[in-house]
Formats: sequence, structure tokens, C-alpha cells
Amino acid sequence: MIFRFNTHRQRERRKSPARPRWISHRVIGALTALCLSLVMLSADLYAGSAVITDKHIRARLALMRDQKAALLTLSDMSAGRRTFTPQRARAARRVLIENTRKIPRHFAKERLENNSHARPEIWAHWQDFETRAEAARQAAKQINASSISGLRRSLPTMMQACQSCHQIYRTVPNRAITH
Ligand code: HEC
Repeated sequence: MIFRFNTHRQRERRKSPARPRWISHRVIGALTALCLSLVMLSADLYAGSAVITDKHIRARLALMRDQKAALLTLSDMSAGRRTFTPQRARAARRVLIENTRKIPRHFAKERLENNSHARPEIWAHWQDFETRAEAARQAAKQINASSISGLRRSLPTMMQACQSCHQIYRTVPNRAITH
């Protein structure tokens, strides 16, 4: 018995600080996915600087940027970069529900401009676009804003819903041009 506890490995294990129980592999996996999503979404932060003259296109971009800000608030909270309070989390969740609900209305008419990143396919596949907007609204409703662990579980689905639409209906913003 004594020998078993004195193997080099066992000593090493006892020296290292105990890992808190919540840092399970699943949580690490979820956080990694979250970070990756943020890196992919961060290109969006730079997309707003190009000149857009059409006020309707500007409105749809503002709608998108507002939900981006709400999503950032929630992901900052879930990553511990911002203090979590259920009130603030719920307010951000409400913005996401409201704004995703308005997506179809803001894109209803085909409007394109040089600096817009909307693909014309939106209007050729309008039903699919609407379905993705609705999926995003459902994901927003599913956000659990009552606890950090709830946020951590429910945010990845929200981010995937944003990205699944962007991947198909939005051209990748070129930072060199949009800055
Ligand atoms: C149903 C499709 C769809 C969904 C869902 C969607 N987006 Fe978008 N988003 C677009 C399209 C299309 C554009 C490009 C619009 C343009 O450039 O005219 C865009 C642009 C953006 C932009 C760039 C705004 C700018 O100023 O250039 C941001 C930021 C953004 N979306 C964030 C989000 C976030 C965050 C979510 C999820 C909460 C989301 N979007 C969900 C279709 C979608």
C-alpha cells in the first residue's frame, strides 16, 4: 500500500493543486468553442466602417451591430471578463430576441450596395433566409440568463445560429478594405 502512494506519479499528482470540479473536459471544450466563435465573429467588429449611403442598409447593419454588442456582453460574462448579473444578462437576451425577430423585415426588399456584404442569394432563397432568422430567434429565446453555467450551456447555439446565416448569405468582410 505504502509503495502505491509513493510512486513518482502519485507524488506529482498530490503536489499539483486540485482542479475545481466545474473545470470538466466538457466545460473546457465549450469554452474553446466559444473562443473560436468569438475569433470568427470578431471580423464583424471591423465591418461597420465602410461607407453605406442607403438608410435601409444602414438600419439593417445597426440591427446586426446591436445584437453583436448584446452577444459580446453575454460571452464576456460567461468567460468571466465581465461581472455577471441576471438583470444585465436578461437585458442582452431581450435585445437578441427582439433584433433577430426583426431580421426578415430589415432584409425584405432586395437592397445592395458596393460596401454591403449581403449576398444577392438572400432574395433568391428568401425562405431559407427567413428560416435561419427564425432559428436565431429561437436560439435567443433558449439563452439561459439566470446563471453563468446556464449562459455557458446556451450561448454556443446562439453563436452558431449567427454564423450559419453569415456563412451562406454574407461575403467575408475584407479588413484591409473595410477599415
Ligand atoms: C438570417 C441571417 C442572419 C442572421 C441569423 C444573423 N445575421 Fe448578421 N448579417 C447578415 C447579413 C446578410 C449581413 C450583411 C448585411 C450587409 O452587409 O448589408 C450581416 C451582418 C452582420 C454584421 C456586420 C454589420 C456591419 O456593420 O457591417 C454583424 C456585426 C452581424 N451581422 C452580427 C450578427 C449576430 C451577432 C448575429 C446573431 C445574434 C447575426 N448577425 C445573425 C445575416 C444574418
